Amino acid sequence: MLRFDLISIFPEYLAPLKLSLLGKAIEKGLISINIHDLRDQTKDVHHSVDDTPYGGGAGMVMSPAPWGDAIDQISSDSDQIDLIILTPAGKKFDQKMASYFAHRRQLLFACGRYEGIDARVGQYYAGKSNFKVHEISIGDYVLGGGEVAAMVIIEATARLLPGVLGNPESLKEESHSIIGSSEDLLVEYPNFTKPAVWRGLEVPEVLLSGNHGAIAKWRKEQAERRTDQLGKE
Ligand code: ADE
Repeated sequence: MLRFDLISIFPEYLAPLKLSLLGKAIEKGLISINIHDLRDQTKDVHHSVDDTPYGGGAGMVMSPAPWGDAIDQISSDSDQIDLIILTPAGKKFDQKMASYFAHRRQLLFACGRYEGIDARVGQYYAGKSNFKVHEISIGDYVLGGGEVAAMVIIEATARLLPGVLGNPESLKEESHSIIGSSEDLLVEYPNFTKPAVWRGLEVPEVLLSGNHGAIAKWRKEQAERRTDQLGKE
C-alpha cells in the first residue's frame, strides 16, 4: 500500500485523483489518497496563508507556519516519508523518479501557489531523519500552482505499482520503460489496430506478417528512430 497525501488551498482541484485508474487502485486497497486543506491550519480570522516577500519584489510568498503545522499533523506517526515540494525551480520529473517513488511508503505533496512556499519549510524537514525532501518540477514552464504537477507525478507513479494496471504486460514495452539491463531509455514504437486500411493509410506490412522475429526487429528500429528524433527537436 502506497500512501499519498496532498496539501493544497484548493482541495477540490484534486478531485480527479479519485477517478479512473487511481479510483480503482483505491478501491482495491493498493493506494490511499488523502487530501488536506492548508487553510484548516490557519489561526487568524482571514485564514491567510501568504505574506509579502522579505527583501521586496512582486507577488506573495506562502507563510511557513500553516505548512509546518499541516506536515507535522500528517506525518506524526510516519517513520519514512518523502516530502515533495512542487516548484518550477525543482529537479525535472522523469520516469526514473516515478519508479523511485513507486518503491516508497508515503509521499506527501506540498502544492504551493503564488511565488512559492517560504524556503525554510523544505530546509526544516530536510533536517529530520524520517523525511526525504524533494523539490520537483514537471517541466520548464510555470503553472498557477503545484496541484496539476502533483497529479502528474501521482498518476505516473501509481500505475507502476503491482495490480494497478489491468494488464501489467503493457508496462514492459511502453515509452521510457527501462529496456533490458542497459537502462537505455527508449520511447515506444508506433502502434496500430484494426482496420488494416484507414482513410487510405495502411498498417505497416510487417505487422500483418505473423513473423514475430521480424516484428520485434521492426519495433526496435522504430523505437530507436523515434528516440533519436526526440533528441534532435
Ligand atoms: N508550480 C508551478 N509551476 C510548476 C512546475 N512547472 N512544476 C512543478 N510545480 C510547479
